[in-house]
Amino acid sequence: RLLFSFFLFVLLGDAGTGKSSIVLRFVKNQFIDFQIFKIDFLISVAAESTIGAAFFSQTLTVDDASVKFDIWDTAGQERYHSLAPMYYRGAAAAIVAYDITNQASFDRAKKWVQELQAHGSAGTVVALAGNKADLIDSRKVSAEEARRYAQDNGLLFMETSAKLATNVNEMSLSDCEEAHRG
Ligand code: GTP
Ligand code: MG
Repeated sequence: RLLFSFFLFVLLGDAGTGKSSIVLRFVKNQFIDFQIFKIDFLISVAAESTIGAAFFSQTLTVDDASVKFDIWDTAGQERYHSLAPMYYRGAAAAIVAYDITNQASFDRAKKWVQELQAHGSAGTVVALAGNKADLIDSRKVSAEEARRYAQDNGLLFMETSAKLATNVNEMSLSDCEEAHRG
C-alpha cells in the first residue's frame, strides 16, 4: 500500500539513449519514431535532442492512492552536463539510461552512477535502464553484464523499450516503491 502521493524523478544518460522517448511514453503513452517519419513522409523532422532539460508531470492511480510524478528529462549532450546537479539533487529517484546497442552509452551511464554516488542526495534511488531493448539484433551490451554491474553498485536494473512500451511504467513504479521503502 503506497502512502505517499508525490514523487520527483530525473532522467540522466547519454544523448540519444531515449530519455525523452521514455518520458513521452510514460506521460502520454505514445512513441514518435522520427526516423520513420523522415523516410515514410519525407518530412524533415529532426530527432529533437533535448535542450537543457524538460519538465513533465503525470498523475497515476496506484491501488487506491494517487501518485503525482514530477519528472526532469535532462539533455544528454555533454555541453549541458554542468546543469545536471540542479535536477538530480533532491530527486527521489534517478533513472540512468543507456542504449543497449551502444557500448559508449553504457560507459557514460557508469560515469553518471559515479557522479550520483559522489554528489547526489543520499536518499536518491538509482535505477539503470537499458533502453532500445527492441533492437535485439544490434545489441552491444549484454543484459547479464548490466545486471551484474547494477547488483555490484546497488542499483535497480531493467531493460526498457520506449518504442514497444516494455517496462516503462514498471520502471517508474518500482522506483516509486523502492523510494518509499528507503
Ligand atoms: P537527448 O535529449 O539528446 O539527451 O536524447 P534522448 O536520450 O532524449 O533520446 P530521444 O528520446 O530523443 O531518442 C533518440 C532516438 O532514439 C529517437 O530517434 C528515438 O525515436 C529513438 N528511440 C528512443 N527509444 C527507443 C527505443 O526504445 N527503441 C528504438 N528502436 N528507438 C528508440
Ligand atoms: Mg531528450
